[in-house]
Amino acid sequence: MNDPKDQREVRREYQSEPLRRRDLADDPLVQFAGWLEAATALGAKDATAMALATVAEDGTPSVRIVLLKHFDADGYCWYTDYRSQKGVELASHPVASGLFYWRDFDRQARITGRVETLSDKEADDYFQGRPEASRFASAASIQSESIRDRDSLETAVAELKVRYPDGHVPRPTEWGGYRLRPHYYEFWQGREARLHDRFRYLLNGGVWQVERLQP
Ligand SMILES: Cc1cc2nc3c(=O)[nH]c(=O)nc-3n(C[C@H](O)[C@H](O)[C@H](O)COP(=O)(O)O)c2cc1C
Repeated sequence: MNDPKDQREVRREYQSEPLRRRDLADDPLVQFAGWLEAATALGAKDATAMALATVAEDGTPSVRIVLLKHFDADGYCWYTDYRSQKGVELASHPVASGLFYWRDFDRQARITGRVETLSDKEADDYFQGRPEASRFASAASIQSESIRDRDSLETAVAELKVRYPDGHVPRPTEWGGYRLRPHYYEFWQGREARLHDRFRYLLNGGVWQVERLQP
């Protein structure tokens, strides 16, 4: 049996189709949308899962998964609790990097940029469209704060259900969304013999410049 603590001999070949400069869309948003669509079409679980890296005031990085909910030319959006660790870090350093890994395609996409909070209207619209259980869960929890035990959490949900029997619990003002406006994208395609294809898009004077990177 493999020793999980020693993975030095564990490896696989990446044998996907090449990614060539001529395959790339001029607009990285179009490129990203194509890759996400391909992953979704294949039925990949959590194809929208984004590892989101933020940075604390003292420069310490932290990373966690959030689900990308929508994106367009204005940026990439997710929803969360502003009081969470990421929320606190984004308040002092409104920059982030997001990473998507689509294993079935041996693909990785990276975005980096400034982050802004979504409007109350955008947060309300999304919150009201969430399933009832998710709305109660968000309203009962202060994300990333410590709590004595699970019972306390379930009691808080039960109390809210008594207070809002019709299910229309209001969105906590501290719950909402963020938008990351990328100035940097990178698309990575795993290839054989570790000679992977990588392309970087950098925004320069309003124009996306594309470069191939060494693997
Ligand atoms: C698949 C998956 C999806 C998640 N989606 C979200 C999300 O959309 N929003 C969110 O706030 N947390 C989400 N989480 C939980 C976060 O990873 C994290 O635990 C939480 O946001 C607190 O992070 P923080 O303390 O670094 O702020 C998700 C976790 C996983 C594994």
